[in-house]
Amino acid sequence: MKLSAIALLGSLIACASAVQNLQTADKQLNISSPLLNGAYVAGQILPLSYTPLSSNIVLNVYLKGANVNESAIALNADTSNDPTSNVPIKVDNMTYYQHSINYAIPTTYPAGNYECIFENVATHTNTSIPVSLLAYVPPAGASSAIPTAVSTAPAVSETSIIIAQPSSA
Ligand SMILES: *[C@@H]1O[C@H](CO)[C@@H](O)[C@H](O)[C@H]1NC(C)=O
Ligand SMILES: *[C@@H]1O[C@H](CO)[C@@H](O)[C@H](O)[C@H]1NC(C)=O
Ligand SMILES: *[C@@H]1O[C@H](CO)[C@@H](O)[C@H](O)[C@H]1NC(C)=O
Ligand SMILES: *[C@@H]1O[C@H](CO)[C@@H](O)[C@H](O)[C@H]1NC(C)=O
Repeated sequence: MKLSAIALLGSLIACASAVQNLQTADKQLNISSPLLNGAYVAGQILPLSYTPLSSNIVLNVYLKGANVNESAIALNADTSNDPTSNVPIKVDNMTYYQHSINYAIPTTYPAGNYECIFENVATHTNTSIPVSLLAYVPPAGASSAIPTAVSTAPAVSETSIIIAQPSSA
């Protein structure tokens, strides 16, 4: 029993070190994505992954850069404990739910340093994740046709949010 508990703890630590689990200063949110100082590409996906640790949290997420107006990735983002569309995570007998948002970065965003800001309105706490953007790569076959396969990210800016089911108590 003791031995298996130690083995389990070991594997949990091994897991945790491989995955970012950044906890906000108000301890109400863990952020697994975007990665601190991660590099992402305009016109492609900025993946967000976060786990609410409190039911009080009211979450907005923004993307901000020096040469663009701040854009809202999600306002009043889903923080529900909905097991149908979110990944349950068990810690100390408590179950938390990891949420994901795939944000299509506008193709017009220039390369540079950006901040992904997680705003908890409930505690007035902002958590800024610095990321860098690489410039948009037009798909092959557009005008200057270079015959290489380029990922077909949607060209329009769009926020995709997992639809929250009304959670029953
Ligand atoms: C949140 O992150 C902290 C610090 O990395 C970790 O100790 C805790 O287990 C995480 N909680 C969940 C539900 O992932
Ligand atoms: C930011 O928004 C203002 C007001 O809508 C606009 O005039 C300005 O051109 C925008 N700046 C950029 C870099 O898009
Ligand atoms: C988890 O639940 C088990 C069984 O109900 C209990 O023995 C244990 O103390 C609990 N652990 C925590 C950290 O609450
Ligand atoms: C958090 O960031 C948002 C978006 O930039 C801003 O509107 C808000 O004033 C900030 N709140 C705090 C407490 O800094």
